[in-house]
Amino acid sequence: MILVTGGTGRLGNQIVRVLRSVGLDVRCLVRKGSEYFWLNDTGASYFFGDLRDPESLSRAMRDVRYVIAAAGVRVEKTDNHHKNVTAEGNIALFEAAKARKVEHVVFVSCAGAADPQGVPALTGKKAAEDHLIASGLSHTILRPGLFAANFADLARRAETNGAVFLPGRADAKISPIHGRDLALMCTAALDLPSVRNQVIEVGGPDVLTVEAAWKTMAEVAHVPADNWKLPPAVLRGLAPLARPLGRRWQNHLRALDAWFSRDSAVDGPATAARFGIPLTPFREACVAAWADRHPGEDPTAREEKVVHRQFVATIYEPGSIKYDELPEGPPPRRD
Ligand SMILES: NC(=O)c1ccc[n+]([C@@H]2O[C@H](COP(=O)([O-])OP(=O)(O)OC[C@H]3O[C@@H](n4cnc5c(N)ncnc54)[C@H](OP(=O)(O)O)[C@@H]3O)[C@@H](O)[C@H]2O)c1
Repeated sequence: MILVTGGTGRLGNQIVRVLRSVGLDVRCLVRKGSEYFWLNDTGASYFFGDLRDPESLSRAMRDVRYVIAAAGVRVEKTDNHHKNVTAEGNIALFEAAKARKVEHVVFVSCAGAADPQGVPALTGKKAAEDHLIASGLSHTILRPGLFAANFADLARRAETNGAVFLPGRADAKISPIHGRDLALMCTAALDLPSVRNQVIEVGGPDVLTVEAAWKTMAEVAHVPADNWKLPPAVLRGLAPLARPLGRRWQNHLRALDAWFSRDSAVDGPATAARFGIPLTPFREACVAAWADRHPGEDPTAREEKVVHRQFVATIYEPGSIKYDELPEGPPPRRD
């Protein structure tokens, strides 16, 4: 059994689909409010839990041999943030994995985690990485940079607003990755001795600037490439001013600065060779990312595509449930 955290996320749902496409048993850790039913067509099973709730993690780990930790906090909320989820939540997950003698853990970290410079999105990842390495668990830590999907997000904004704010350094060198390629790397890493106990910076096959990446996506999506620059100095200047709106906005601006201002290009062909998978060229990744709206963004999907009508979820408050009484979701599909 493979436990996947973040299975409802952009990357996580691709991981679940890759694992299920080769017939592996998958259990997704899903939380109250998760739109987990988008995964019903995959035949994965669910376990209701939360990275902030260590007891749920221990129980989710029953009979689990491998863990892929792909949960993340895109924008912090008052009670779901980099401290209690990215750092402490992942650490609790690794502790539970160790206690249950899990054979291997794949942790999706983030480019820049080696040098967090006080940015909470990165300090959280680094704390979790350090804990995993020190735990003695067999592990692989992947540090991806920007996803092609990040540029698809910008394109959707341009579609609505006619132009976008392009954060960071327009000439920063990046290697944006196709989410499916990263999902394949996570899967390969479960059983690839050469990446065992390694921390690996990963990316796509093309090295290009942030601005060139945006222009490629705009062309693919047929949206105007017009943009207003939000250079690093502006992001750094705005961050403290955003503090009165809440610490999370300050943190978000600092994270945008870290992701879009730093060079994070990798040697794509070497990465492909290391994992034994061909990497998708950026233009092709743009086509896929543009076409691949998360089902949650598709208003017709809920009714027409994947809702599992027989299954009614039990909802619980973290820490308030007897786990043995919980359903595990629809029974896994027998292939
Ligand atoms: N470009 C990028 O976006 C980028 C770059 C480098 C690394 N990464 C890393 O890649 C991973 C996946 O990113 P993504 O863009 O696919 O993320 P995403 O779409 O924002 O999904 C985040 C996932 O984490 C889950 N989650 C959030 N808080 C949780 C909690 N307290 N307990 C359990 N699960 C929780 C979410 O569940 P719900 O459905 O319940 O919200 C969701 O499944 C993350 O670790 C991220 O840091 C992303």
